[in-house]
Amino acid sequence: MHDFSAGIIGTGKYIPGKVITNHDLEKMVDTSDEWIIKRTGIKKRHILEDGIPSYKMGIKAAEQAISDAGINPEDIDLIITTTEAPDYLSPSMACLIQKGINAKNAAAFDLNAACTGFVYAMVVAQKFIESGYYRYVLIVSNEGLSRVVDWKSRNTCVLFGDAAGAVVLGKVDRQFGIKESYLASFGDLGHNLTIPCCYISDEEKNKRSENMERTIWQDGSEVFTFAVRSMTDATRIILDKAGISVKDMDYLIPHQANLRIINGAAKRLEISDEQIGVILHETGNISSASIPVVLDIFSKNGKFKNGNTLIFVAFGGGLTCGSLRFLWGK
Ligand code: UT7
Repeated sequence: MHDFSAGIIGTGKYIPGKVITNHDLEKMVDTSDEWIIKRTGIKKRHILEDGIPSYKMGIKAAEQAISDAGINPEDIDLIITTTEAPDYLSPSMACLIQKGINAKNAAAFDLNAACTGFVYAMVVAQKFIESGYYRYVLIVSNEGLSRVVDWKSRNTCVLFGDAAGAVVLGKVDRQFGIKESYLASFGDLGHNLTIPCCYISDEEKNKRSENMERTIWQDGSEVFTFAVRSMTDATRIILDKAGISVKDMDYLIPHQANLRIINGAAKRLEISDEQIGVILHETGNISSASIPVVLDIFSKNGKFKNGNTLIFVAFGGGLTCGSLRFLWGK
């Protein structure tokens, strides 16, 4: 047992200024504001301007998190970037961000667990910090999904947006920080949500329109069913591991893909609306950036009190899911 925990000591975010509303989408594809709100809860999404690399969002989020933590970029030992739409396969997004923030003493790598990436990265960071190997770990969830969306496909283009969220992890008092965690992968279900990269099969080609081979495709209803089940199970697993009930939890901070998924899980778990941190209506699905962006907004507007019990829960491509219990405080 350590005399400290790995905890969040700083947060940051960047949400691009350009907005695409549901009404804008009505002019681009056969959809309606009413359909999108009723079926997803999304009202608008923010999109990176053309010509700007996605990692620039991560730099801004990281700078805020480092300043919030009260440390310097040179103090960072490790940068983990989670992303589904890297600007390059090499250099990694983490190395591009390292250069941008001048974290010259940091090791850096990307981690891909799709929308579950932030939860995976938190557990990886925890292990580095609790073992004493590293003191400060920066996680940047950097998602420029508009770059891999087919803007002519109403099945996907109404869902996604761009944003980056960042946290700095360091040692905190033992009563706070990361507690129980659960990570899972279901590779046999991976075909339900794909973004091809260096290889594309004929089957994947046939699912997409011409010249749109490197875009997101999903079987919406299969992913929906998986999402409600896995978010419910992953939350229950953490509650059981911790030996607590839903009433002992102050906030559930879920990955935000569709309000109906969040509400479906909340209903099964008997969690009230006030216990859930939701920003999806403003951002759309921003993949692994969902949870750190909510953390930044809620911590800076004073919602979290020291000792609050938070549960982070996410699902995503792979397919993957994960959850952890986090006690807010430094
Ligand atoms: O983090 C990434 C993981 N991805 C997800 O979490 C996605 C999970 N899935 C979903 O969120 C939902 O399945 C969707 C939002 C993708 C779709 O919602 P749905 O309620 O499952 O709709 P559906 O696919 O069953 O389609 C219902 C109807 C269909 O028309 P018909 O066949 O009933 O005439 C669709 O063609 O809605 C139609 N439709 C649309 N209509 C207007 C599908 N997309 C649209 C649209 N606008 N954008």
